[in-house]
Amino acid sequence: MSTTASTIFFGAEGFNALDQFLENKQPSKTFVLVDENTATLVPNFAQRLSNLDGEFEILEVPAGEQSKDLEIAAQLWATLLDYGADRNALMINLGGGVVGDLGGFVASTYKRGISFVQVPTSLLAMVDASVGGKTGINFGGLKNQIGTFNEPDLVLVEPEFLKTLPKEEWESGHGEMIKHCLLTGSDWPFILQLTPEFDSTDEIQRSIRIKSRVVDADFKESGLRKTLNLGHTFGHAWESLMQQKGTPVSHGRAVIQGLHLALVLSEQVHLQREVARTYPWLVVDPEDLAQLWTFQLADKKNESGEVQFVLLSSLGNATYGTAVNIETWSACILWLNERGNGK
Ligand SMILES: NC(=O)c1ccc[n+]([C@@H]2O[C@H](COP(=O)([O-])OP(=O)(O)OC[C@H]3O[C@@H](n4cnc5c(N)ncnc54)[C@H](O)[C@@H]3O)[C@@H](O)[C@H]2O)c1
Repeated sequence: MSTTASTIFFGAEGFNALDQFLENKQPSKTFVLVDENTATLVPNFAQRLSNLDGEFEILEVPAGEQSKDLEIAAQLWATLLDYGADRNALMINLGGGVVGDLGGFVASTYKRGISFVQVPTSLLAMVDASVGGKTGINFGGLKNQIGTFNEPDLVLVEPEFLKTLPKEEWESGHGEMIKHCLLTGSDWPFILQLTPEFDSTDEIQRSIRIKSRVVDADFKESGLRKTLNLGHTFGHAWESLMQQKGTPVSHGRAVIQGLHLALVLSEQVHLQREVARTYPWLVVDPEDLAQLWTFQLADKKNESGEVQFVLLSSLGNATYGTAVNIETWSACILWLNERGNGK
């Protein structure tokens, strides 16, 4: 399985590939970036690599979205400088999407770019964040405003790491897998029945393949890649609103909320009903509609002051760039409030 500039490997084969990479590269210094939760995975990870001897430094950031921050990126750049890291240094990002996005951004910009490896440990990072070369941090209260397109040298996906992942974080990744299946029609509606207890290695591989195929066709997101934003126009706005209200929701749960709306806007109510049986629509306070619309307008993916959606003309067939007006949008949300619970 290959993407434009890097290669994705699974399980034991992945550890072998990373070992080989370390042997070939002979990094001058290796840094392993973790957050406070994924730090516990370091011993298991390091033990399985014979070429990662004790000569690596662990860089730890607080868990959560607040670490995708300029101040934290600056601290990491300063730490790399303190260690005298040169352009042959290597950054291994062992964690969820936050660690991957932040570490990828720091590595992409330090001394105009050093090598980095993504080792996703959350389901969301496996099927989405570590594929496609987008790195970045949040800025000015908005998500992913500063960043780069830069492929890692290698992605190592070890589904065993999911054993310690909390259930709500698993659901977050499940949301992106559901999105991939809606975009292609594959595994539908079986994907809705997956649970954390199920060995989903095959489904994870298929999900990654769907994303990497789209990314290979359109790395810089000038066309087809935009379809991966299915559910994200409203999802990001919902995520920002919940953050502002002090009741944050996971990225993937926000995307599921966005999928509901996209499916109703697409007039694919039968698909929305199927999603709702697994993840019901979460009622939106009508008083929040104005704020949600404002968040959508600020989304960097919108052009010329319009709010644009990815829609489905049918299962497996997506279109992008459809402008939706506030009246239609509000009516669909109010409809979902009344009838969006799948019954
Ligand atoms: N670059 C991209 O293309 C892309 C795509 C989608 C999402 N993202 C970004 O990814 C981020 C969300 O990723 P996420 O959901 O992985 O968030 P996250 O990195 O915050 O991880 C979620 C939580 O799970 C914990 N965790 C991760 N792996 C664990 C494990 N194996 N065991 C125990 N705990 C574990 C983390 O410490 C954290 O508390 C967002 O910032 C989003 O913008 C990026």
